Amino acid sequence: MADKADSTPTTMTKTLASRLANIVPFHVMELQKMAAALEADGKSIIHLGIGEPDFTAPPQVIEAATVAMQNGHLQYTPALGILPLRQAISDHYRDVYGVEVGAERIVITAGASGALLLACAALVEKGSEVLMPDPCYPCNRHFVAAFEGRSKCVPCGPESRFQLTDNMVKNHWGPDTKGVLLASPSNPTGTSIPPSTLSSIINTVHSKNGFVIVDEIYGGLTYTNDSPKPFTALSLSSDIIIINSFSKYFHMTGWRLGYLIIPAALLPAIEKLSQNLFICPSVIAQHAALACFQPSTLCTYSARLAELATRRAFIIPALKSLGWEIPVEPDGAFYVYCDVSRWTADADSLTREILRDVGVVVVPGMDFGVWGAKKYVRVSYAQRMEKLGEAVERLRGFFEGRRPLRGEGLVKDDVRHEGMVVEE
Ligand SMILES: Cc1ncc(COP(=O)(O)O)c(C=O)c1O
Repeated sequence: MADKADSTPTTMTKTLASRLANIVPFHVMELQKMAAALEADGKSIIHLGIGEPDFTAPPQVIEAATVAMQNGHLQYTPALGILPLRQAISDHYRDVYGVEVGAERIVITAGASGALLLACAALVEKGSEVLMPDPCYPCNRHFVAAFEGRSKCVPCGPESRFQLTDNMVKNHWGPDTKGVLLASPSNPTGTSIPPSTLSSIINTVHSKNGFVIVDEIYGGLTYTNDSPKPFTALSLSSDIIIINSFSKYFHMTGWRLGYLIIPAALLPAIEKLSQNLFICPSVIAQHAALACFQPSTLCTYSARLAELATRRAFIIPALKSLGWEIPVEPDGAFYVYCDVSRWTADADSLTREILRDVGVVVVPGMDFGVWGAKKYVRVSYAQRMEKLGEAVERLRGFFEGRRPLRGEGLVKDDVRHEGMVVEE
């Protein structure tokens, strides 16, 4: 029988679940496809699009993975993860964040994505609403949609550092709202929620018997000296869910390893979901990750953080010198969210033009929500300094001789995505 590699509808397409209508593709993937085609034609492309550190796992981690395989650690592990790794994370929270989290509250998952999936499977009901900022990590609304919940995306502008405030949570909480999903520092904006705001939000949500999920995947990747110690929302309350990962701070994106920190009472629910949905996270990745916490590996990560700080110090003024506005300086992650409305009424077409003309990939705001989506682009500076320098020069060439927009050319409308509830 002939293989159907084309997209002609089949009987199977007719059986697709209706919830898929609420799940939209990642636009950045379209840009990546375009970039790949240009690269195949011999064009040099600089990638400032993808949210992935250019550093890969340090040698100690690779060595630990090799040893694990040689020692035959190749079978299923407990669904919650191997105890030494759960303990190592618990120790790390005590040493770095100054909070005591028992290893039994830590659940190892297949990346932060697996953690978000488990949390949403446990908490989101059909028809229930989850508050989140717009802009935010696009997959969040799709995790909620996968369990037939609705994301209530609240426009968050520069005034609140693109993050929800306690008042917004109070104003947008409705009869069907079940909880909030926050990320600090955030993707795409690299901004964090001040601890006092987070504390008020947690109190408000608890007073409404709702849940609080805080995605701290960019935790540790912070560049300000405001707080004497790295911060986790766990220092405010243990009655919340923390999402975290080895992808960003530990540079292990492709290893697919993350974790949840949950109140002990949720453990039976999460354990049975994890057993059924994943059986367990990758055994090799779990053994490899143990090496992340060795003193020499932690030193490597600190040095890499310092390198990211250097890149950040270069890229922010460099982007401003192009006439890109950075209304809020990011304090974390490795992103800068730039307002390019001086140059275009549609950031999406601008990103395509930039890619086609000068071979630089940056991501349009429409990937992250609706509010201001036509105005903003996200730049990831997780790229070597030489590449960042060259990218800026190419962009300078692109904008040279262009005239900024005025008056009626400026952006007025936001884009709309199917299946999104947008609160005005
Ligand atoms: C805010 C946020 N959460 C979760 C994820 C998913 O990460 P992981 O690779 O750990 O699944 C990402 C990835 O970019 C992210 O930016």
